[in-house]
Amino acid sequence: MKSYDKLLLQNKAWAQEKGIEDITFFSRLAKQQNPEFLWIGCSDSRVPANEITGTDPGEIFVHRNIANLVIDTDLNLLSVLQYAVEALEVKHIIVCGHYGCGGVRAALSPVYLGLINKWIRKIQHVYVAHEDELKGIEHMDRKVDRLVELNVLTQCRDLAKTSIVQKSWHKRQYPYIHGWVYDIHDGLIRDLLQLVPGEADIHPIYKFDTNSWT
Ligand code: CO
Repeated sequence: MKSYDKLLLQNKAWAQEKGIEDITFFSRLAKQQNPEFLWIGCSDSRVPANEITGTDPGEIFVHRNIANLVIDTDLNLLSVLQYAVEALEVKHIIVCGHYGCGGVRAALSPVYLGLINKWIRKIQHVYVAHEDELKGIEHMDRKVDRLVELNVLTQCRDLAKTSIVQKSWHKRQYPYIHGWVYDIHDGLIRDLLQLVPGEADIHPIYKFDTNSWT
């Protein structure tokens, strides 16, 4: 059997099982999605949003890219963010990084990787901003893991700088922004940060005048 045939076979078994567990599962979801969460995670195959949070289809709107970055000119991320916040009205945005992230490790390496170097440049900016702390960590794996954490915190604050989030905070006091890190060694998530609507510790230069929404 070809490897991809196995996936199709497993899909059949999964659909059957779901249908037996809950007879209205697919017909209900086919009508609409109503997720409470937007997940911004790493593309790493070891960190699947639904599986590690024990959630079902329909519960999490998902965006994944290398090293879970929030790039303020990334049309893909911004479109997902806008749809999740304005149309789906999610209550929570979760930025979930993971220890041992290859994208973060690559950002610390001088090796040329082509296009990927441009994508991970932002992680190098995070490194430079926290160089004093990171320089003091000699063990490479520990340095990577601390940069993983600092990277997540930075992406959370960068979400709070977007007009999409600030507009929604003003209008409906949602979404909350959560910074999490998943540990690939034990499968557990560490909760690092929660940004409450209107109370993000970002520089005032990034804050829009609330009167300009009207
Ligand atoms: Co990763």
